[in-house]
Amino acid sequence: MSDNRNGLTAKLIDQLPKAELHLHIEGSLEPELMFALAQRNKIDIPFKNVEEVRAAYDFSNLQDFLDIYYQGMGVLLQQQDFYDLTIAYLKRAHADNVRHVEIFFDPQGHTDRGISFDTAIGGILRGLEQGEARLGISYRLIMCFLRHLDEASAFNTLEQAEPWIDQIAGIGLDSSELGHPPSKFARVFGAARAKGLKIVAHAGEEGPPDYVWEALDELKVDRIDHGNRALEDDELVQRIVNDGQTLTVCPLSNLKLCVIDTIDQSPVKRMLDMGIKATINSDDPAYFGGYVNDNFRAVAEALPLTPEQIVVLAKNSFTGSFLPEEEKAQRLEEIDSVAKQLS
Ligand code: HPA
Ligand code: ZN
Repeated sequence: MSDNRNGLTAKLIDQLPKAELHLHIEGSLEPELMFALAQRNKIDIPFKNVEEVRAAYDFSNLQDFLDIYYQGMGVLLQQQDFYDLTIAYLKRAHADNVRHVEIFFDPQGHTDRGISFDTAIGGILRGLEQGEARLGISYRLIMCFLRHLDEASAFNTLEQAEPWIDQIAGIGLDSSELGHPPSKFARVFGAARAKGLKIVAHAGEEGPPDYVWEALDELKVDRIDHGNRALEDDELVQRIVNDGQTLTVCPLSNLKLCVIDTIDQSPVKRMLDMGIKATINSDDPAYFGGYVNDNFRAVAEALPLTPEQIVVLAKNSFTGSFLPEEEKAQRLEEIDSVAKQLS
């Protein structure tokens, strides 16, 4: 690609307005904040310094990461901790020109260690409200069920969410995928849908194409998180294209969790070429070494992506969001206008 096109790609990545649709707020806990909160809450952590923490972030699969991720969130005790975590993420996202976020949180990761549902969600929502007021970032909050736990625990979590239900946009499904297919949670997702909640699920990150079929047919998802392994099944790809499903792809996450061996194996370009509405996201940026623009840059260079594809990915992040149609249209116009100014 010519230097001019490379320069344009870099500017588009920096300057285009974007939405982030796949972000676990607990996965944005940077080692510096982990230490600060450990000190504030008088919690012992098994690391001497930030460098030691980062050195521990060497994963060979999803479970390897999850073990450290659940340990890391152990420093979050008070509502203020959840607030600080959320504000820190939003400031970082703002620097990447992220204008809208749809973030996940894992209530069972907190309630199972004695932190109340209200403490966690109260701090996160206060952070999101402040982020909207101060940084102009709109938001939706998505509550995830941990799939390694049982259906009863998910139902119990949905019940605890009841007083907050107007402030929760959707339900997601995360944690250890293999051995925990979406069908395990068909009934509780049915109950969530009956409350008018949007539905998303991690599927096809490590799990087989069948899990993506189940997410579509049994959970009736509005969006698929990851979805990498859907590409192994032509009929499934056709279904995703026909339904206009958005996939939230996380390139650096895929690399760190060995879903791909090298960044040039990221499926995002192939997905676009197949007509799938792919988006680029950071997943757990503190653990995977990059925020949303780092993810864009990594694949833009390796695949490579054209400037036109960068624009499509930014547009997909809004069209695949849960914003109302008028706001989506407004964001798409902004993208066109920034792209026009730059090219
Ligand atoms: N996959 C599944 N569960 C998760 C992830 C992920 O990438 N991040 C946090 N919980
Ligand atoms: Zn994820």
